[in-house]
Amino acid sequence: MTGSPPVLAADDLVLLGQPFWLWQVGVAIVGVAALLILGSRLWHPRIATLRWWALGNIVVNAGISVTGATVRVTESGLGCSEWPRCTPESFVPVGGDHSAFNAAIEFGNRTVTFLVLAVGVLIFMAALRLRPRRRDLITMATIIPIGVLGQGVVGGITVWSDLHPAAVGGHFLLSTLVVVLTVAFYVRCRQPEGPLRRTVTPLTRRVAGVLTVVGFALIVLGTVVTGTGPHGGDLEAPRYGFDIVTVTRLHSGLAWLTVALSVALMVLLMRTGAPRALRVQGWLLLAALTAQGAIGYTQYALGLPEALVVLHVLGSALVWVAILRVWFGTAERVAADAPDVPTGTGGTTGERVTTP
Ligand code: HEM
Repeated sequence: MTGSPPVLAADDLVLLGQPFWLWQVGVAIVGVAALLILGSRLWHPRIATLRWWALGNIVVNAGISVTGATVRVTESGLGCSEWPRCTPESFVPVGGDHSAFNAAIEFGNRTVTFLVLAVGVLIFMAALRLRPRRRDLITMATIIPIGVLGQGVVGGITVWSDLHPAAVGGHFLLSTLVVVLTVAFYVRCRQPEGPLRRTVTPLTRRVAGVLTVVGFALIVLGTVVTGTGPHGGDLEAPRYGFDIVTVTRLHSGLAWLTVALSVALMVLLMRTGAPRALRVQGWLLLAALTAQGAIGYTQYALGLPEALVVLHVLGSALVWVAILRVWFGTAERVAADAPDVPTGTGGTTGERVTTP
């Protein structure tokens, strides 16, 4: 919190005669109800329907990192100063000393979590009811909502630590890890449960693996830049105390390494006759990286304007999903009795890399 008395207290923010927080709770309830109605088709799930929901799962889990960024850049991190309560006396923003604006933003972000959780629970239920049974889908569908609940706990630690940058960064990175599972789930919905077979040459798969690790390190370092810079979520939030220029240079250096690896991967994909869909994913990754790099340099040059910082977080979610799509595209699950034949047009692919 800023320490100065709020211009407008949370209790005073009223819309059509009702406190604003009541509208937020109402929207969350209506949203969850709408999801349950829409998701009633998942009671008799078909894999094609499940795949659409899996896509939605990626969107909401990647999207919540963007709403979280909005909390940070608007200094609303302690808009609810307690956890799991919002204020010492209440689960909703009443009676606290926070400003109406900060409370609305932070409380709104908390309510969004219920929508994300609802999607995860619906998919979990559908995975359980899917026939024939898919152990791989059930496992992932179980871990995803646990990860979302874990986000609630890390969110609590973030509040209790008065927005320590490691907790804020951990909150962000847990979303990044949950997104890995949501993308894997989406990809697996199109494949049978069986052995894993490469769709590219061994070298291409290795480069894609290194790219994924470097991409994750790039995101981790991004959270260190954030933890050093001005957007900690509150004016009094503790900071890492690193030199901002140095950590930004390290972060942008890793961005360049990610670009170099993506270009190398693209050359390999083109020269070894990789599947067309994977080549398209590779181009999409390069496009996302280019846009994200441009936003990164622009926001740095302009002194980190809030809107661009939020856009950079959206870009990081898109880059991460693009990296994961490429990685998961370098091998596919095939039916146990599928012939061991090359699946690419280059004739160098198709070997099984593991058995179930
Ligand atoms: C191209 C791939 C890039 C990715 C995937 C990426 C990702 C990220 C992530 C995940 C964060 C942390 C967000 C948060 O904690 O909320 C971040 C922060 C940041 N990035 Fe990047 N970044 C990229 C490129 C760049 C480049 C080229 C620059 C150029 C200087 C840059 C500058 C920054 C800055 C200054 C911050 C801190 C913003 C703040 O105050 O919150 N990034 N980045």
